Amino acid sequence: MRKVLVTGGTGYIGSHTVIQLLNAGFEVVILDNLSNSSKGVVARIEELSGTGLDFIEGDVRDHELLRGIFAKYAFDSAIHFAGLKAVGESQEKPLKYYDNNVTGSIVLFEEMMRAGVHKLIFSSSATVYGDPGYVCYSETTPLAPINVYGRTKLIVEDTLRDLKKAEPRWQIALLRYFNPVGAHISGRIGENPFGVPNNLMPFISQVAIGSRPKLMVYGNDYATPDGTGLRDYVHVEDLVAGHVAALNTLGDANSFLTLNLGTGKPYSVLEMIGAFERTSGVKIPYEIVERRAGDLPEYYANADLAKEVLGWQARLGIDRMCADTWRWQKTNPAGYVID
Ligand code: NAD
Ligand code: UFG
Repeated sequence: MRKVLVTGGTGYIGSHTVIQLLNAGFEVVILDNLSNSSKGVVARIEELSGTGLDFIEGDVRDHELLRGIFAKYAFDSAIHFAGLKAVGESQEKPLKYYDNNVTGSIVLFEEMMRAGVHKLIFSSSATVYGDPGYVCYSETTPLAPINVYGRTKLIVEDTLRDLKKAEPRWQIALLRYFNPVGAHISGRIGENPFGVPNNLMPFISQVAIGSRPKLMVYGNDYATPDGTGLRDYVHVEDLVAGHVAALNTLGDANSFLTLNLGTGKPYSVLEMIGAFERTSGVKIPYEIVERRAGDLPEYYANADLAKEVLGWQARLGIDRMCADTWRWQKTNPAGYVID
């Protein structure tokens, strides 16, 4: 039985990943410090998968803790989701972000090395591309992030490229996510941001449930068809399927993968509002406000390489993204606090 350490496994993408891993027959141990997630997620993962898992509450920067975990379990691989992801906060608190995202990753890689575990999937982001001057990003698009969060991802990517050169036995996949949205079809797990959501989809769904009065649309004067920003939203279940495929593909012949995970089809903010209203039957009040600093008008993935290398392709469209988000929000108006 293949055993995987999933850091950040109670978070949004991690929790969906753990379910697919358990369903695919992997054994899973989650390490999460619960800085942006709830312990109640674990019981729901077990309920949905019908399988048990080990959950360890702790910090990925804790060398001793990690050493103990690697001594206890014979892992075959690790998927490293643990990290902080708020772009605005990263600009205000750079040390917190470099420490958590960069130091945390290095501690993990050191302890993997010590334990002889050399297979890794790392959560990177389309943010590593910055603002290349065109809108369709392939994996060869230059890397020049424009915020601290993006730079933490690039530093870890560079670290892993260097590690691979020095230690060829490592098998590594850098997966660059575009905009993950949606939730498990059961409505039992989903995105549960603490505080005011930064991202569009959780904000829309909190407006729909009535916990926020209206959505602020950041600018309608971009050079896009309806003036609002365009993004490549990808259903979390599709995104996660890319991780399972990467884990199964990593081997001697494919030992360093760098792949975009997106649909290749961008939607505007107004299109997302329209799709949410259509699938939920709930009106989303909104107001057009100033552009948000640091936002780009438009970008989306060229995801051809993931198709070629993994046979992976996003399957779920905008209506499923919205319907699944709404099912989760409607049945869990206050997130996981009921657990
Ligand atoms: P999330 O916040 O829901 O999950 C991250 C999890 O990591 C949380 O459960 C948090 O408690 C945990 N964590 C954070 N720091 C930790 C530490 N030092 N030790 C142990 N646990 C820690 O975020 P998510 O959306 O599931 O994102 C997962 C990964 O994907 C992150 O690395 C993020 O940067 C990356 N990513 C996310 C997006 C997105 O839009 N959601 C886009 C691109 C990349
Ligand atoms: N938007 C609004 N109102 C909101 C929130 C967002 O109008 O309340 C707009 C933004 O201006 C943008 C679009 O909705 O046009 C998407 O914004 P998000 O904040 O949901 O996503 P971003 O593309 O700005 O950034 C996200 C993550 C980053 C990640 C990046 C990867 O927040 O962490 O995708 O592409 F790095």
